[in-house]
Amino acid sequence: MSLAERDSKVIWHPFTPQKGSPLPVGIVKAEGAYLYDEAGKKYIDGISSWWVNLHGHSHPYIADKVSEQLRTLEHIIFAGFTHEPAVQLAERLLELLPGEQTRVFYSDNGSTAVEVALKMALQYWFNKGEKRTKIIVLADSYHGDTFGSMSLSSRSAFTQAFNDWLFEVEVVPVPVEGKEVEAVEAIQAIVNTGEVAAFIFEPMVQGVAGMQVMERRALSEMVRVCKDAGVVCIGDEVFTGFGRTGKVFASEFLSTKPDIYCLSKGLTGGTMALGVTTCNQTIYEVFVSEDRLKTFFHGHSFTANPLACTAALASMDLLMRQETFAAIQHISNRHFDFYTKIYNHPKVKAIRHKGTILAIEIKNDEETSYFNNIGQTAHEYFMDRGVFLRPLGNVLYTLPPYCISDADLDEIYAALEGFLNS
Ligand SMILES: Cc1ncc(COP(=O)(O)O)c(C=O)c1O
Repeated sequence: MSLAERDSKVIWHPFTPQKGSPLPVGIVKAEGAYLYDEAGKKYIDGISSWWVNLHGHSHPYIADKVSEQLRTLEHIIFAGFTHEPAVQLAERLLELLPGEQTRVFYSDNGSTAVEVALKMALQYWFNKGEKRTKIIVLADSYHGDTFGSMSLSSRSAFTQAFNDWLFEVEVVPVPVEGKEVEAVEAIQAIVNTGEVAAFIFEPMVQGVAGMQVMERRALSEMVRVCKDAGVVCIGDEVFTGFGRTGKVFASEFLSTKPDIYCLSKGLTGGTMALGVTTCNQTIYEVFVSEDRLKTFFHGHSFTANPLACTAALASMDLLMRQETFAAIQHISNRHFDFYTKIYNHPKVKAIRHKGTILAIEIKNDEETSYFNNIGQTAHEYFMDRGVFLRPLGNVLYTLPPYCISDADLDEIYAALEGFLNS
C-alpha cells in the first residue's frame, strides 16, 4: 500500500474536504526548491510549502545547527528557565524589527502569535484601568484559525460554522489603490469614538485575500491615525516577514511602525514550528508591576523550544547574507518581467507583485470565490507539469524559496502562462 493510501485511512488533512478530494501526495524527500514524491516524481515548490520555506528544503546549515542543539538541550519549560537560543534569537529580532521593539514573547505558530498579540493589547488597557472595547481589522483579512484569530479574520465560508461564537470587530476598507481616502476616513471615524483598543493588519500584503498589495502611504496614515489616539497597532508579519516583500519586514515600507509584531512561518526558515510576538516599551511597561494580577497569564508547553529557536537563528544567518538579498531582488526582477509580459493577457483580470510574491487573478464567469473550480483545475495542471502551486480560488500565485534557480523560475512562469493559454 502506498503512503498516500495508508494516509487516507487514518489522517484528516487541513482545509481538505473529506469526500471527493484526491489522495494526498506522499513526499519522501525535499531538497533545495524540490519535493520528491513516493513514485520518484520531482516538483518545484512554487509556494515555499505554505509560505514558510526561505532557503530551500533540508538546508544543510540549518540541519547541522539543529542537530547539534538536539544533542545539547532539546527542550525545557520556559517559565522560570531560559536558554541561549531563546535569548540570542530575541536579541537579534529586537535589533532587526522596525520601530524600537523591546520584548519578545514566544509561542509556537502564527495563530498563537496573533492570540498573544491580541491578549497583550487587550490586557494593556485592562492593566491601565481604561475601558476600550473596539478592535479594528481590515476587510478580507486573515490572521489564523484559533477563535481569537478567526474573530479578527474576515467572515467567510471558513468561519461560517463558528460565526455565532466569534467576537465583533470593526471592519475598515483595505488601502489598495483607489481606496486610500475611503480607508483612512473610515478608520479615523472609528478611532474618533475613543473606544478603540487595537488595530491589527497584515503589513503591505494580504496573503490569504489573494495577495492584495496595499498603498504604503495610506496604510502608514491609518497606523498614524491610530497611534495618535493611543490605539495599539499590531503588525501581523506572519506571512510578510523575513524577506518575502523585498525587505526583511514589510513594516519597513511604513513611515509609522506598529507597537506589536506577530512572526512565524519564515521565522525558522520553514524548518520548525515557532511563533513570536514582540512589543515596544509602552506596551511592556504596564505589565511591570508588583500587582500579580497584572501578569500576562499565557504560555504553551513548547514555548521557545530550543530546537526551533536554533533553526530560526540559523535561518537568520542565511537571510542576512548579502547574496540572499541579491537573490530576493533577482526573483523580484524576474517576477516583474513576467508581470509585464502577461499583463495584457485576455484571461488576466489583475496581476499583483511585491518582492518575491507574484499573483495573477484570472477572469472568472463563476462567482469569484475560494471554491470555484479554477483553483483545483489549475493545481492539477501544475502538478502534472512538476510544479507545485496551490491557487487561492481564481488567484494563481507563486512565492518561491529564495534559492530557486532561473531555470526553475522559467518552469513556473511557463506553467502559469500555459494554464492561461489552455
Ligand atoms: C497573516 C497571517 N497571520 C496568521 C496566520 C496563521 O498562521 P498559522 O497557520 O501558523 O497558524 C497566517 C497563515 O497563513 C497568516 O497568513
